[in-house]
Order: sequence, then structure tokens, then C-alpha cells
Amino acid sequence: MLSNLVNKYNIAGPRYTSYPTVPYWNNETFSLEKWKSSLVTSFKESNSKEGISLYIHLPFCESLCTFCGCNKRITKQHSVESPYIKAVLKEWHLYLDLFDEKPIIKEMHLGGGTPTFFSPDNLKLLINGILKDAVVAENYEFSFEGHPNNTTREHLQALYDVGFRRVSYGVQDYNETVQKAIHRIQPFENVKRATDLAREIGYTSVGHDIIFGLPFQTLEHVNETILKTKALLPDRLAFYSYAHVPWIKGNGQRGFKDTDLPSAELKREQYEMGKELLAEVGYHEIGMDHFALTTDSLYTSMQSGSLHRNFMGYTASKTQAMVGLGVSSISDSWYGFAQNVKRIEDYYELLKENKIPVYRGHILNEEDLIIRKHILNLMCQFKTTWTQDQLYFKELPETLLQLKEMEADGLLIINRNSIEVTKAGQPFVRNICMAFDVLLQRKQPDVQLFSMTV
Ligand SMILES: C[S@@+](CC[C@H](N)C(=O)[O-])C[C@H]1O[C@@H](n2cnc3c(N)ncnc32)[C@H](O)[C@@H]1O
Ligand code: SF4
Repeated sequence: MLSNLVNKYNIAGPRYTSYPTVPYWNNETFSLEKWKSSLVTSFKESNSKEGISLYIHLPFCESLCTFCGCNKRITKQHSVESPYIKAVLKEWHLYLDLFDEKPIIKEMHLGGGTPTFFSPDNLKLLINGILKDAVVAENYEFSFEGHPNNTTREHLQALYDVGFRRVSYGVQDYNETVQKAIHRIQPFENVKRATDLAREIGYTSVGHDIIFGLPFQTLEHVNETILKTKALLPDRLAFYSYAHVPWIKGNGQRGFKDTDLPSAELKREQYEMGKELLAEVGYHEIGMDHFALTTDSLYTSMQSGSLHRNFMGYTASKTQAMVGLGVSSISDSWYGFAQNVKRIEDYYELLKENKIPVYRGHILNEEDLIIRKHILNLMCQFKTTWTQDQLYFKELPETLLQLKEMEADGLLIINRNSIEVTKAGQPFVRNICMAFDVLLQRKQPDVQLFSMTV
């Protein structure tokens, strides 16, 4: 029964938006020079074939939501916009200097913080500045995260004019008690207005983020939130488990007490009920946490086997290279990862010295590349295969031995040269990936680094 399985497998574990996961990066063997050279190799191999992806982190928010785990800076001073945009464009130019041809932009995502903190004119300046020295791929996908309280018609129009067709709105929960506890008052009318406006202007995919496991949240509240979601029928839906990570410095998860959070049992019930309701409404589960209507590209890419996962979560297509701009952004060359400094002041300082503002990263070795592929296969296709010559790694026999118990619980099927995750096993795909994560197996963390898997 699902409840027993959730009780058994609900442990702290990575979300595998990267492998190796950030706490296991080897910063000692990493250097900025190695990172640049891995990106240049990747760019040469892939730019003309599939293009590259861009992630731009826009960190400002006017008000702090006390559940939020993102990297953000709270301010009401909009004078911060211009210097930040100039800095991001400077960083982009430092990357452009490395490339011997114009980048072809296949995907671009603006995340935050709150991208709609910036004025429509400034957002246009930013995007035009980025695209001035680049080519836009034919079947490009540009998307952004909007706060329903401050996304205006002008924001949506400005970004539409420069190619954006997808927006995702943070909704979290519609109940007032929950909203007060997370310091985020956001009536249904605001979400409806922002959703309707996007559709009116011509956005082809509108997404909502909702969360279970929030302070004071009951089953009834989750039910009510999904009913309201049904009324607006977003094309995509993220149904996140609240990640309680108060040990991450300065994330502001202090506006409520731990005892205000639902018990593990109640959280599990919220998750199960939520999933059932979403299926009834017509949503299909995509990998982990994500749901989509059959008309959305996330669903069609899952059907065609082209679903991909990176630091932005699930995406409809894969590019080998992803450049992350802005504070705290992570870039991925497939052969290496690099993360930017998290403080805005440090970011400005390094750019002033014409330095790419990276402060840590990881260069993948052969074993990392093999495990990375298995984890990506499991997260996106729910199966993975190997032969003696391909994708085999030394500890595979131990991994398979560990997975025996999950097989007995009906979560997966172990074949001679492959593993298939069953329908019942899909909610536990993080646990299955953990058996492949040889770095985690070799050294379990001494303190809790990751949120719970459910
Ligand atoms: C950058 S915010 C979205 C854009 C905008 N800032 C807003 O709040 O509407 C990204 C999303 O991450 C999710 N999120 C943030 N902190 C979280 C946490 N601790 N646990 C689970 N999801 C979280 C929320 O659903 C949120 O909508
Ligand atoms: S949830 Fe969004 S608006 Fe709230 S603090 Fe986080 S990034 Fe800012």
C-alpha cells in the first residue's frame, strides 16, 4: 500500500537536478580555467547542432515569503534594477568572448527571486542585450517566473514581444491562514487576472506552482487549492513538497515554528490526495513533482522520450551546454558545473575585475559521466540500461543488490541489463537514484544536507 511505502522510503535525499549533487562537488580539482575550457569544448560540439540554454537569475523581491528556499534579496528600491542588468550583460559578454561563433539560443529561462520585480522596459533591455550578439533557434522556448501579485499586462506584453511564450506563477496555497503564515497574501483574483492576461496576450503555456506540507496547511486547504487550480486549468503544474531547509543561511524560513508544520503523516496524505485529484482533473505526472495537460510540450516530450532535467527542473528538450547568468546561477557544460557567487556585492566586485564570477564547481570524471547518464535516464524515462562496455561502473553489482528490496516492494524491475521503474515506484525515483549515487554511498553526510524525498 502506498502509505506504508511512503513511510518506509521518506528519507532525506537529493532532488538530482545535477549529478554529482552540489554538496559532492570536488572544488579542489576545479578551477575557472578548467571550467572555461570544458564549456568551450561543449559549445564547439553542440552549438550548431542544438544550440545552448540560458538561465538568468533575477534575485530581487519586494517582500519576503517565509517558506522560500530560493536565493533572493528583499528590497523596495527599484534603483537596483539598472546596475544588476548591466552586470548580467557584462557577464554574458565575458562568456561571448570565449566562443568563436554566435551562440544559438534554444532555451532561455528567467528565474528568481522575482523577474517581474524589474520594470517591463528593463526586462526588454536585458533580453535585447542578450540577443544582440546571439541567434535565436528555430524552435526556441523562452519562459519566466512571474509573481501573480505584480505581473502586469505590460510585463507580459514586453516579454511576449521579445519571444517569451511560457510563464509560471507562484501560487503555493490559496488559504488565508496558510498565506499569513508564509507571509504571502495572494487572493485567487490576482492569480486569475495574471493567468487570463497571459492567455489573452498569446502565451501558449501558463504554469502554476503549488506546495503541500506548508505551515497550518490541512487536507481541506490542499483540496481547496486544487479546486481553484481546476477553475484556471494551467497547462503545467508543479506540485512541490515543502522543502524545510532552515539551516541554509539567510533563507528566511523563520516566520513560523517547526511545530506549525503538518506531521509527516498528514503531509503524506496531502500528497496522495493531491495526486489523485490532479489525475481526476486531467493532469499527467511528468517525472517527479511536475504535472501537465496532454496539450503541453512537457507531456509531449515525455511521450517522445526527449524529456530532460537540469537545474531548472524538467525541460522539454535537451541542450548540452547551459550558461547560468546572475548571482548564484549554476552553469552546466555536461563535462562540468560552475556556480556563481551568491552575494550581489561579490558578483559586482568580480565583474568589475572582468572575472567570470564563479566561486565553485565540479569537473566530471568518467565515472561521474556514467552515473549522471543513469540518473538522468531514471528521472526522465524511468528506466536505464547498460552493457559490459557501456554505462557499466564498478559498483553496479552493489547498486543492484541494494535495489533488491525496492524490487520486492514492487517499485522497480531488475532485468539482466536494465532497470525499469514501475508506476508504483515513480514517486520514489529519488530513492532509486540514491542507489546509483556512488558518491553518496561512499560517504553519507554527517549532517542533514537534503530535504525529505516526500
Ligand atoms: C522563484 S519562486 C517563483 C516566482 C516568484 N518569486 C513567486 O514567488 O511567485 C519559485 C518557486 O519555488 C518554489 N519554492 C520556493 N521555496 C520552496 C520550498 N522551500 N519548498 C518547496 N518549493 C519552494 C515555490 O513554489 C515558488 O513558486
Ligand atoms: S517565493 Fe518568490 S516572491 Fe517569495 S521570497 Fe521566494 S522568490 Fe521572492
